[in-house]
Amino acid sequence: MSSNVLVIGSEGQIGTELCLELEKRDDIVLYRADIRLLTNSERRLYRLDATDQRSIKQLIRELQIDEVYLMAALLSAKGEENPKLAWELNMNSLLHLLDLAKEGLYKKLFWPSSIAVFGPDSPKVDTPQNTTINPSTVYGISKRSGEFWCNYYFNKYGVDVRSIRYPGLISHATEPGGGTTDYSVAIIRAAIGTRNYTCYLKGNTILPMLFMPDAIKATLAIMDAPKESITIRTSYNLGGFETSPELMARSIRRFIPDFEINYSIDFRQDIADSWPQSINDENAIMDWGFESEYDLDRTVEAMIKALG
Ligand code: SER
Repeated sequence: MSSNVLVIGSEGQIGTELCLELEKRDDIVLYRADIRLLTNSERRLYRLDATDQRSIKQLIRELQIDEVYLMAALLSAKGEENPKLAWELNMNSLLHLLDLAKEGLYKKLFWPSSIAVFGPDSPKVDTPQNTTINPSTVYGISKRSGEFWCNYYFNKYGVDVRSIRYPGLISHATEPGGGTTDYSVAIIRAAIGTRNYTCYLKGNTILPMLFMPDAIKATLAIMDAPKESITIRTSYNLGGFETSPELMARSIRRFIPDFEINYSIDFRQDIADSWPQSINDENAIMDWGFESEYDLDRTVEAMIKALG
């Protein structure tokens, strides 16, 4: 029997590539929803504001949805510009979806968390799953609070909600919007275009990153795993590789030798400085077999091939 899957935020950086993968499966009927789309029900596309609770409930009921991926969010940099909106979008949409699952309207929820849950006093290297976690951005606060709500709804009401703390995500299908790690995509686009990039983070700022195919593979793996093997109901750490603007520039120069990088540091430096450099993801490996294929050089090569 096939299941009906709804991706909310289907046109965003993760949603776009997640839908491409879900579409390949013949045991799934995929429905897309995004604030940027015009409804075209024949193509299973719906215009939806993730803060519009009535419309979400109506859509899930009407389409008899079994699984929801809630990918709509305001990221770290945009969130600092508009804290209340970040809280409202990131938190209320999650609480509403958790309630609908509790009411039995659908069966399974995926909700993304982020390395932004970690704060300046968390260990920087090989950051463990459970450690000091005091986020300093509104985005991080919303993600950490959301993690607790997921765990609460699982323990109290049996809601099958699964979550990953994504590191910075590098991808080419859709541009990222409003994150601190966005430079990792912009730098490659600029290298191909003008051969020159002005970076808002210092050259030696190390952050964990993941190429989108690995992130999508992880997302589908956690959703496909048997319920019993999900031992963490807040959110799983996920690593990838560590990189910095300098290391990315070096990797890019293998293909574009005259690429130049300059720096004009802004408020995003403080955000980046509060986050880990590398992540311990042994629980994801143990519980649902996370495995990443792409390191920095392979990611840069694949990005240049796709965009060049
Ligand atoms: N990529 C996100 C950001 O920079 C982190 O989850 O906000």
